[in-house]
Amino acid sequence: MQLELERHTAVPIYRQIVNQVRGQIQDGTLRDGARLPPVRRLAAECGLTRLTVHSAYAELQAEGLVESHVGRGTFVTAGAPTVPSVDRHAQPAPWISQGVLANLLRWSERGDLLSFAQAFPAPETYPTEELGRALQSVLMEGGALGYGHIQGEPDLRDELATLLLQRGMSVAPDHMLVTSGAQQGIDIALRALTEPGDVILVEEPVYPGVLELAALRGQRVVGIPNDGGTLRLDALEAACSAHDPRLLYLVPTYNNPTGISLSRECREAVLRLAHAHTFVVLEDDTYGLLGLEPSAPAALHSLDRNERVVYITSFSKMLAPALRLGVLVAPVPLLPALAAAKQSSDLVCSALLQRALAHYLREGHLSTHLSRVRGIYLKRRDAMLQALQRHVPQCTWTIPEGGLSLWLDLPPGVIEQDFTADALRHGVGLAPGAAFLPRPRPQGAMRLSFGVHSPERIEAGMAALGRVLASHLQRPAMMESLSSGAAGPLV
Ligand SMILES: Cc1ncc(COP(=O)(O)O)c(C=O)c1O
Repeated sequence: MQLELERHTAVPIYRQIVNQVRGQIQDGTLRDGARLPPVRRLAAECGLTRLTVHSAYAELQAEGLVESHVGRGTFVTAGAPTVPSVDRHAQPAPWISQGVLANLLRWSERGDLLSFAQAFPAPETYPTEELGRALQSVLMEGGALGYGHIQGEPDLRDELATLLLQRGMSVAPDHMLVTSGAQQGIDIALRALTEPGDVILVEEPVYPGVLELAALRGQRVVGIPNDGGTLRLDALEAACSAHDPRLLYLVPTYNNPTGISLSRECREAVLRLAHAHTFVVLEDDTYGLLGLEPSAPAALHSLDRNERVVYITSFSKMLAPALRLGVLVAPVPLLPALAAAKQSSDLVCSALLQRALAHYLREGHLSTHLSRVRGIYLKRRDAMLQALQRHVPQCTWTIPEGGLSLWLDLPPGVIEQDFTADALRHGVGLAPGAAFLPRPRPQGAMRLSFGVHSPERIEAGMAALGRVLASHLQRPAMMESLSSGAAGPLV
């Protein structure tokens, strides 16, 4: 049984053992009836006290995943529940100590690196001239240098009401709150709608920013597997019964990291569960207007008949991150608490930038811009898919329907941390899968973003990854041949 235990995190060692063994049972690595190592042996191998291992085994037994028989040992229960994610004692995610987001941003500054780690939009598409003219014009009009409105500039909210029609949403400007990007939308939703210590449900894999925020607030995060666009509704239902959660965070359209959307049936089922269990769905639609296929799903919000959805989106990916502008749409009863959370954070968003964006939208530039960037991202996505097929056919990956990234699973046995470090040594940056998961899992994975690189650079990067992977795939084979005695003597 393979365990990777980290001593310098907030998660106690016994809980790490519980989480990893549970994960291995649920993903089939440990099968029905498999025997766990004896307490004494595992403790000695991992340098732990027997009490630590004993506590972990007792916890797994309490969860019905293993059975201990005196004198015989501990075995995986036949027919152990395979519904994942019901971690009854979920801990704050240890993301803070890893500083995953900070690392990703730091990597982007290394000029010598070919980085696929950040889901950045293509800088050459930033609308410098149009925004320049818009800024000039609103400055001349006057009034753009004051604090402005807490809910956001009325002109911008009017434009947003029109824009959101494209997402199937009919929303009054009064039901909106302009935010400093989607990240602030998530932050204020967590602060206004949940308490520290509450359980937050997230899809798994998930955008890491929400894990960082939840960890900072001491909140417990429970992951609901999202297998290639199919949210495990059984796991969601089980988590609702076990935790009575306040909030579920989802990127249902062009998910980050997978680029896949939830089906209509799945969206409706999520809304039914939200209504039945009275939790809020925080819909993050940051990529909603960055579809790469002709048919685009409407926002989850547009299907909500029971005021369960709080919706956020952002101009960071579709236009330019430096605007730091996004919007949150919420049912009226929730707005005062959300506006108070926003105000206590930064009072207001820049009136100057809001008015400039309103001007840009009013002039009708966004639709031209979006058709241009979608064409560019489609070429880059296809270049990446073809290059993956050529250079790393041993892996599996998602085929993004929109957004800027895909999710790639490494072949079994390739260790994610080693692979990521080696890729970096070979000049290629990638976002390690662990950054997107609220709990560890044995299967190595990564997110690859294609937004900023030309097809030629994508080809070069994937070719380099192919060479790194080939060297990793040789490792177990080499070990096997050495241990079987097939190799010659080491002289
Ligand atoms: C799904 C998702 N939500 C939120 C954000 C944060 O974006 P913003 O720049 O709008 O704060 C990102 C950024 O990558 C994202 O991918």
